[in-house]
Amino acid sequence: MALQLSNLGFCVFQRRGKKQLIKASSATDNVATVSKEEEEREGKVKVGGSELKVTKLGIGAWSWGDTSYWNNFEWDDRKMKAAKAAFNASIDDGVTFFDTAEVYGSRLSFGAVNSETLLGRFIKERKVREAEVDIAVATKFAALPWRLGRGSVVPALKESLARLQLPVVELYQLHWPGIWGNEGYIDGLGDAVEQGLVKAVGVSNYSEKRLREAYNQLKKRGIPLASNQVNYSLIYRAPEENGVKAACDELGITLIAYSPIAQGILTGKYTPENPPSGPRGRIYTPEFLTQLGPLLDQIKEIGQKYGKTPTQVALNWLIAQENVIPIPGAKNAEQAKEFAGALCWKLSDDEVSKLRSLASTIRPVIGFPVERL
Ligand SMILES: NC(=O)c1ccc[n+]([C@@H]2O[C@H](COP(=O)([O-])OP(=O)(O)OC[C@H]3O[C@@H](n4cnc5c(N)ncnc54)[C@H](OP(=O)(O)O)[C@@H]3O)[C@@H](O)[C@H]2O)c1
Repeated sequence: MALQLSNLGFCVFQRRGKKQLIKASSATDNVATVSKEEEEREGKVKVGGSELKVTKLGIGAWSWGDTSYWNNFEWDDRKMKAAKAAFNASIDDGVTFFDTAEVYGSRLSFGAVNSETLLGRFIKERKVREAEVDIAVATKFAALPWRLGRGSVVPALKESLARLQLPVVELYQLHWPGIWGNEGYIDGLGDAVEQGLVKAVGVSNYSEKRLREAYNQLKKRGIPLASNQVNYSLIYRAPEENGVKAACDELGITLIAYSPIAQGILTGKYTPENPPSGPRGRIYTPEFLTQLGPLLDQIKEIGQKYGKTPTQVALNWLIAQENVIPIPGAKNAEQAKEFAGALCWKLSDDEVSKLRSLASTIRPVIGFPVERL
């Protein structure tokens, strides 16, 4: 197994359920020592003020079973096997945190299979051969307009648990702010903690104002708001500009970064001549991809210095912001393995700033409108 780790640091890989402390080999002199030694040793970080600890990077499972946005609107056995291979490869490489949602792979979309159901099966199968395997699951409650407040949260969670075939999930998140009934949903998250059905709770697509309100509301019950999952990448830095990142840091809430490689764009595989197909093609147009060229060249150049791919540089850039856990989506084992290589090394401060300043010359794409609610 080729490892590129910090010169002096240690990195824990949890492989086949056994923790292995691997002494870093001197891969390159340019890799800086990671500062938080304790976290480094364990390979995990605490999620906000909760007791939950997860790997510094997670895997997003939105595309698993989905036919509404991903997979060319079709799901089949081959894609299912690739998703399962992504799940297993992640665990083999020590990334054990998985993010799903009740609406991923919604049956409203033709041919879809629910992502929680798939993840639940993958976990169950893995546990047959490795009973003690360490896995943390995050899922989400959908604030659908007909769900009226507090009383709707725990029943929805119980349905998620049934699909996942789990008695408890590690993190339960409100997927987006509801049009109404929002305070009720936050109370419902608190109920889920008190009933022992989840280890921690968070929100998603929350503005700074809503974040502070939810934090204070849960605090009155002695429950920490552990996380806010928002769109954040090198080319979508709204959380830095709208106060969300600063509020997360101030309140001790972990920012979970979704679409951290801009839905594949920061991998460098899409070019003006080869834009992504499907709904992504409408966001990341040839014109946009042309604009992105100099940044992608810079990402590649920096990556070469460390023996890292653009994907790994883009993810490491997010981790370098501190208090951020990226959750890139993997459709197959190769993608999942590449993500693991984003850990255990660190871009220099200069490189982090240089990339931000180059990225800031690019016109931002439109995010998920609910984050401005
Ligand atoms: N809370 C929310 O509202 C919300 C919204 C969006 C996402 N999320 C969460 O965040 C997760 C990740 O976001 P995302 O899936 O939107 O975007 P992403 O992680 O930025 O991009 C994932 C896509 O990039 C491509 N890719 C991944 N690894 C690659 C690699 N190593 N090399 C080349 N291409 C690679 C794959 O698509 P192709 O192979 O088809 O190019 C993959 O589906 C989701 O799965 C979900 O859990 C949450």
